[in-house]
Amino acid sequence: MQYTLAFDVYGTLINTSGVYQTLEKVIPEIAKPFMELWRNKQLEYSFRRGLMNHFVDFSVCTKEALAYCCSTFKIDLSADQKDMLMNEYKVLPAFPDAKIGLENLKSSGHRLFAFSNGSKNAVTGLLQNSEIMDYFDGVVSVEGVQVFKPSPLVYQHFNTQTNSTTSDSWLISGNPFDVIGAAAYGMRTAWVQRSPDTVFDPWEVKPTITIKELTELSSKLS
Ligand code: LAC
Repeated sequence: MQYTLAFDVYGTLINTSGVYQTLEKVIPEIAKPFMELWRNKQLEYSFRRGLMNHFVDFSVCTKEALAYCCSTFKIDLSADQKDMLMNEYKVLPAFPDAKIGLENLKSSGHRLFAFSNGSKNAVTGLLQNSEIMDYFDGVVSVEGVQVFKPSPLVYQHFNTQTNSTTSDSWLISGNPFDVIGAAAYGMRTAWVQRSPDTVFDPWEVKPTITIKELTELSSKLS
């Protein structure tokens, strides 16, 4: 069976830890906790704005989360340093398994879409920069419905935009909250457990399959 595949972007295809090298230069002692808080706050801000019906471009969540981290860690970054970090977010690298994994899936006849909280522009730029854009049939952004993952509206939007249904589409994500959101909506889901230390939220909803790398996906879908 050939499926319509929705690939989460940040944390699944693209490694948000790409900012680590820059952070290490600027704030070597706290680069890791800063990076983790930045990512967690970015997501928290998107969840909260979703609940509040206050949609903004995802990059605003990223920027405001960066400012929050600077205040929390009492780091006085200059405007140039903040700009540099925000620019890093536009050129984050793909995970090493992305290219070959996508290539296998594409040649098996599946339809591939990037599906993200990020704007269509930001996601297209990232995928082009990391040279994986050509594997995709398109980019679906939540900006079309002005709400963030994991609202069921965004997964429904994916199905509408790609002319697919819950029974012929899969959400592939490294983010447990995204997997749970898509599964609760009714899609099949693959959780990419990017690190053995990542814990899947112990809710009643489980991923259809769990993989460690995107290269495992092709054989598990057939
Ligand atoms: C995305 C975030 C959730 O790409 O990682 O949608």
